[in-house]
Amino acid sequence: MRISLAQLPANGTHIVDYDGRRVLLCRSPKGIHAMAEMCPHQKLSLDGGRVRGDFIMCPHHGARFNLEDGRSLSPLTTNSLTLYPVRIDGDMIEVDC
Ligand code: FES
Repeated sequence: MRISLAQLPANGTHIVDYDGRRVLLCRSPKGIHAMAEMCPHQKLSLDGGRVRGDFIMCPHHGARFNLEDGRSLSPLTTNSLTLYPVRIDGDMIEVDC
């Protein structure tokens, strides 16, 4: 999947429908991250989640997940985010999902 870097807001999230899946993209100070849209806590959308440093906070109950390895940083769940590899090619984001 390829999308333009310009489509990704500086501090927010962006959802892409791809091959029957919804992929959430966001930026952190460490780069661009791509993940399955659903929060591992109660399978609600992470869209609108806040990115702070190297974690994303779910907008529903506030669970936090590390954007580098997907692990939960919250007692709400021990399940991790499903992350997808990201590569930057010029002004395009390539996601292997
Ligand atoms: S659904 Fe994300 S924290 Fe509950």
